[in-house]
Amino acid sequence: MPEGAYRWFVYAELALALVTFVALLFVVAPYGGRHGRVGWGPTVPARVGWIVMEAPAPVLFVAFFLLGSRRAQLVPLVFLALWLVHYVYRAFVYPFLMRSGSRMPVLVMALAIAFNTLNAWVNARWISEYGSYPVAWVADPRFWIGVALFAGGLTLNARSDRTLRRLRRAGGGYRIPNGGGFRYVSSPNYLGEMIEWTGWAIATWSLAGTAFALYTIANLGPRAVANHRWYRSTFPDYPPERRALLPFVL
Ligand SMILES: NC(=O)c1ccc[n+]([C@@H]2O[C@H](COP(=O)([O-])OP(=O)(O)OC[C@H]3O[C@@H](n4cnc5c(N)ncnc54)[C@H](OP(=O)(O)O)[C@@H]3O)[C@@H](O)[C@H]2O)c1
Repeated sequence: MPEGAYRWFVYAELALALVTFVALLFVVAPYGGRHGRVGWGPTVPARVGWIVMEAPAPVLFVAFFLLGSRRAQLVPLVFLALWLVHYVYRAFVYPFLMRSGSRMPVLVMALAIAFNTLNAWVNARWISEYGSYPVAWVADPRFWIGVALFAGGLTLNARSDRTLRRLRRAGGGYRIPNGGGFRYVSSPNYLGEMIEWTGWAIATWSLAGTAFALYTIANLGPRAVANHRWYRSTFPDYPPERRALLPFVL
């Protein structure tokens, strides 16, 4: 595919970020759990939904990456490794660790599969074909700053996921999470995810990476606000100083 045609996929992802942000200001996506609602059609167990909707992200990324003429170069391979660390965790580890018995609408799962397919194409094709990353890129500060943000964001995301999981260890329903990033915000897992993909955008210094970072912010920002409202209305003793997403700010 000529690069001019590929660019339209990147523009489509940027447009999707905008549409998603506006739509989620009015509707909270019912992935399941506390925001689950009837009226979204048939559902599947959330664990199944997570595996099926996230699996295309690592599997198709590898397939698209291997199509690229730069697939054997060092820096593209480092980016491939970063992507896989996140998505093998999200698609094949996280769902098996989940303690939730909630269900996910098939519609949400289908939309996520479509997005993950587009996003894998946009990012994998950039990394291994249209972008150019000579070995000297590893000495560029943008690479190191981006990789450091990616690693820090992933750590915050996975640790916060673990804190939520442990709340369910003794059985029962929802509780107030404490410790780690929860000292400052209600959704540190989302904040970690946003930092991670911002790091990816900086490390790859690309419109493709920027489109994904913006989509993540557009998708998880409104959801973080919805989670925060839910905590405040559900728990009268919810820590008043805790913010929704950005410590001390929002
Ligand atoms: N890149 C993206 O655009 C994107 C999109 C979506 C998700 N993600 C990532 O996927 C992960 C999961 O997302 P999510 O929206 O499902 O997160 P979430 O709403 O925080 O829920 C995560 C898990 O913890 C449970 N849980 C949440 N709060 C709890 C509480 N107070 N007490 C007990 N259990 C609680 C949930 O159970 P229930 O299911 O029963 O509520 C669910 O199993 C996050 O790390 C997020 O960053 C990324």
